[in-house]
Amino acid sequence: MQPNLTQVRNEFPAVQETAYLNTGSYGPLSCAVAATIEEANRRQLTDGRLDFSIGGSNQAIAAKLRAGFARVLGCAAAEIALTHHTTDGMNIATWGVRYRPGDEIVTTSWEHPGGLLPVYAAARRFHLNVRVVPLSMDDDDSALLRKFERAIGARTRLVSVAHVSWKTGAVLPVARIAALVHRHGGLIAVDGAQSGGAIPLDMQALQTDFYAIPGQKWLCGPEGVGALYVNKERLGDLLQTYVGYPSLRDGEAFDESGVFLPSPGAARYEVGTIYRPAIAGMWTGLQWLEELGLDWIYDRTQTITRHTREVLSAIPGVRVVQTPTQAGLTSFTIDGVAPTDAVERLAKGGVRIRSVLDPDLLRVSSHFFNDETDIEKLRAGIVKLSQTVA
Ligand SMILES: Cc1ncc(COP(=O)(O)O)c(C=O)c1O
Repeated sequence: MQPNLTQVRNEFPAVQETAYLNTGSYGPLSCAVAATIEEANRRQLTDGRLDFSIGGSNQAIAAKLRAGFARVLGCAAAEIALTHHTTDGMNIATWGVRYRPGDEIVTTSWEHPGGLLPVYAAARRFHLNVRVVPLSMDDDDSALLRKFERAIGARTRLVSVAHVSWKTGAVLPVARIAALVHRHGGLIAVDGAQSGGAIPLDMQALQTDFYAIPGQKWLCGPEGVGALYVNKERLGDLLQTYVGYPSLRDGEAFDESGVFLPSPGAARYEVGTIYRPAIAGMWTGLQWLEELGLDWIYDRTQTITRHTREVLSAIPGVRVVQTPTQAGLTSFTIDGVAPTDAVERLAKGGVRIRSVLDPDLLRVSSHFFNDETDIEKLRAGIVKLSQTVA
């Protein structure tokens, strides 16, 4: 049976009063996630933190959560490291590659700092060159691939690229970029901040080496939890930059001579104590999304995003950035209105979207819980704005 959208929306208090159209920054929290976090916090306070086992022991929840993230990413649980956010995952991947001086990292002009800054910092420390593929709003997949073909070569050690552009919403042909870099013997790390929980993912099909996602955006989880996929074939290639107790095969897998044995899976990239209420909340949230059905969520996101694009395209003076395929983001401009101004004025009318810079655009996120009334509020708000310009 299909989930009832009204009931789904009732689970999210934050979507009741406003048209909540900025999941790309933060998804709303559900009542169940918030209740789990509160209960976990209360138990930390009243029972102490020494025998803390809401929903099972901490390690057991972490194991369930890895398996849950693995189902979202379409991979094995042993290929998941729990992280704090996308940026954490991109750092682990970028810093862990075995570089030789003079190697190159290929990235694009539209990366988010969460993926880009680790590239810059690693390049500085390891004396690497960074090649930036210039993206343009006119690129179709073939134009884009030609640009990557020109940039990737024998010296390319890593390609660092977002699956879904946080600026335009374009879905990059990651599988084909991965094939290209693999032909040259390099690796690919994908920033999945705008894809994880928004579109179906299958790590086998995408052929990526590393893929980082957050919990707090399209999975509507708490802040402070994310996941990094590390292809099991690449565990040997990706060095552990940070290590700690959770990185070990077991608690005794180190000795005084400097030897330590890593966990056999991607958990080797996990480091120290994590905020347990967030882990518990994320697990509750993932369970609920799976009960609703991930396929239903992805279908619904596509339907409402298509609707958003159609509605926006029909407003005079609105130009929607056309992308060959879509996830949940839609970017656009309003003639004569600065994006930052539009965000502020729409927020006053209860419509929450955001703007991005360079290219200067407005960005709407449409996710499974959004409905036609949200999009109608957006449309009416934009029409009102446009009238003040004319
Ligand atoms: C493409 C992209 N990458 C990375 C990030 C940073 O995400 P996080 O806070 O999960 O590190 C964002 C956040 O907006 C993003 O859009």
